[in-house]
Amino acid sequence: MTEHVTVIESVRLDDENNQIILLDQTQLPNKKVFLKLETVDDIWDAIYHLKVRGAPAIGIAAAYGMYLVTKHVEATTYEEFDAAFQQAKGKLASSRPTAVNLFWALDRMERRLEKEKSTSIAEIKQALKEEADLIKQEDEEVCEAIGQYALELLEDGMGILTHCNAGTIATAKYGTALAPIYLGKEKGYNFKVYADETRPLLQGARLTAWELDQAGVDVTLICDNMASIVMQQGKIQAVLVGCDRVAANGDTANKIGTSGVAILAKHYGIPFYVCAPLSTIDLDTKTGEEIEIELRPEEEIKAKWYSEPMAPENVKTYNPAFDVTDHSLITAIITEKGIVYPSYQDNLKAIFE
Ligand code: MRU
Repeated sequence: MTEHVTVIESVRLDDENNQIILLDQTQLPNKKVFLKLETVDDIWDAIYHLKVRGAPAIGIAAAYGMYLVTKHVEATTYEEFDAAFQQAKGKLASSRPTAVNLFWALDRMERRLEKEKSTSIAEIKQALKEEADLIKQEDEEVCEAIGQYALELLEDGMGILTHCNAGTIATAKYGTALAPIYLGKEKGYNFKVYADETRPLLQGARLTAWELDQAGVDVTLICDNMASIVMQQGKIQAVLVGCDRVAANGDTANKIGTSGVAILAKHYGIPFYVCAPLSTIDLDTKTGEEIEIELRPEEEIKAKWYSEPMAPENVKTYNPAFDVTDHSLITAIITEKGIVYPSYQDNLKAIFE
């Protein structure tokens, strides 16, 4: 039986068995394997190796990780507990640098810890669980709201191009860029989605094409270098992408290749929309130049899934995992609080007020 993809939970806490149950996204679409994570090293490894990926899902996994790892700390004072908390937080913060949701979730867990300072250690642990649950619950509501706002910009039958995977498995539910596609489908809309395969790790082919196909959405997989021709042929009326960090001026880091898609969209006069939860907007980062771009190992480019070589052994590689799309290429940023148009410098700040 085909399971409706929007009910697939990519991250879940099994509190009774002291585990995070994680859908291993590196094994999709061939196998649906659920991992059981218990230690801070397990969670770090899952984030670093993209077993959990997508900015909001990384934040959710990190929040549950903080709860789980500190749950068994045998501290008698707040200071002792805090020391263990800080150690785990430091470790998880070192897993991936670009998606701000990781740091946002870790900081939010820390603020909750500080708020509970005068309560017992047992109450602190309970509060941390509550906070992680809230982060996940809120993400589902946020994604649904983004989807509803994005739908206002779309019409039935449109061709939509997306890059990477900003879908249900990258979030608590619905996704960000894919949310309007799912919500539209529920209303009977028939979007024609073009998914860029998204080299080198193929999130578009393995994940976006998989989850949309499972949900019965009309999806066509293309190689990254085919985005121009489908735009030129009039097949695309809108581009929708997610993001890993939006700077105060609207510059947006997302999966490597996104900025190229934005440049093409501008050339062909196609609107380019970024779907962004407020948790991904980082007003402390002034422009895209300040965003750290993760560099990843050469095997991702040179070996076919770390097995058969696809390039000469000694050739140099450069493997940035993200790029920054200049704010001038972005038609609108769609958040859970509404659609933000330029000037982003003023209008992004205003939605937080
Ligand atoms: O390296 P990844 O797969 O974690 O990159 C993910 C993306 O670039 C997504 O578009 C982004 O995190 C938004 S997910 C809602």
